[in-house]
Amino acid sequence: KKVVLAYSGGLDTSIILKWLQTEYGCEVITFTADLGQGEELDPARKKAEMLGIRPENIHIEDLREEFVRDFVFPMFRANAVYEGCYLLGTSIARPLISKRLVEIAQEHGADAIAHGATGKGNDQVRFEIAAYALDPSIKVIAPWREWDLTSRTRLLEFAEANQIPIAKDKRGEAPFSVDANLLHTSSEGKVLEDPGEEAPDYVYQRTVHPEDAPDQPEFIEIAFEKGDPVAINGEAMSPATVLTALNEYGRKHGIGRLDLVENRFVGMKSRGVYETPGGTILLEAHRGIEQITLDRGAGHLKDQIMPQYAELIYNGFWFSPEREMLQALIDKSQEHVTGTVRLKLYKGLARTVARHSEHSLYSEAHVTFEDDAGAYDQKDAAGFIRLNALRLKLIGNRNARIKP
Ligand code: ARG
Ligand code: SIN
Repeated sequence: KKVVLAYSGGLDTSIILKWLQTEYGCEVITFTADLGQGEELDPARKKAEMLGIRPENIHIEDLREEFVRDFVFPMFRANAVYEGCYLLGTSIARPLISKRLVEIAQEHGADAIAHGATGKGNDQVRFEIAAYALDPSIKVIAPWREWDLTSRTRLLEFAEANQIPIAKDKRGEAPFSVDANLLHTSSEGKVLEDPGEEAPDYVYQRTVHPEDAPDQPEFIEIAFEKGDPVAINGEAMSPATVLTALNEYGRKHGIGRLDLVENRFVGMKSRGVYETPGGTILLEAHRGIEQITLDRGAGHLKDQIMPQYAELIYNGFWFSPEREMLQALIDKSQEHVTGTVRLKLYKGLARTVARHSEHSLYSEAHVTFEDDAGAYDQKDAAGFIRLNALRLKLIGNRNARIKP
């Protein structure tokens, strides 16, 4: 039996690796992706080797460009936000990991994949729904749902008994669960489990405290083409490079911190702390360019479907016909979303201060408070308002008539 494990090189997935070997007796193939989590991947290879994985069974891949180009950017075309705040940084990475797990399983003739998500969360749902969508016959092993290592203490005992090194911070007060990629870092558990208590400063890992951000604002210009950012300050960049650069601006100015209690798909509420520095800037800029390039009808329609689209991604339905249908609608809306946005970055905030586009629908000739030289006839508005008010007048008359 062979199984492909989503392996981070961290303590939990190292324990899972060992557990699969000993309890399940399977040949383990590891898959470690660089999604921009900012960690060296070499240690993951060394650790896998140390745990007895043969070199040809260790897969380490840089997926940053694919992640941003094919997952993050399509999602940002929709301005997707879950429950009003969450930019879906973990949710959007899971389908890509599942896709590679399934592909590697097929290459090796493995019949199962394994992941380190718990039985309480969203990630198990996302990994598995994506995997089943891509390979209906794949089997999934989710050790957290099966084993008897049900407490942190027993987990550490298992690690010690199996010579798995335990990093110091896993014993200290670090959040129990951290997930990072180019788009965001999320922290859950431990000191964060009481939503009535403010998150301590050390939970934030990739942005400065907004109060410690520079006292001077900084201005940047982002260029968009059909809804995707393609250049910063006139310099053309690849998708992953754009997001990396925006992350650095966001880090420096303390942009994109979020403390949220959200509704998990499995039914419980959970409290998380998120940092999405570049993504927060990108969302603001994208809305900025849409302001002048999107028609009202198109813009309002995509805003209406946005919460549903975000929920599909949150719940793990990236590879579903309904997500793809909504994506087609969103992508169609972006045909003219081309131009530049100038942003002011200052102490935790990114604000649009100017936008330009050849595709702009903004007409100063129409909107001006000065003489518009006949572009617009203000007399037209009187009839427009009368007809729009007609039914409300009829209601008013009716109500006056039947009043007791
Ligand atoms: N609550 C967020 C989500 O469901 C983040 C999950 C983070 N995952 C993790 N392994 N810490 O998307
Ligand atoms: C987990 O349970 O593994 C992390 C949190 C989540 O998936 O929602």
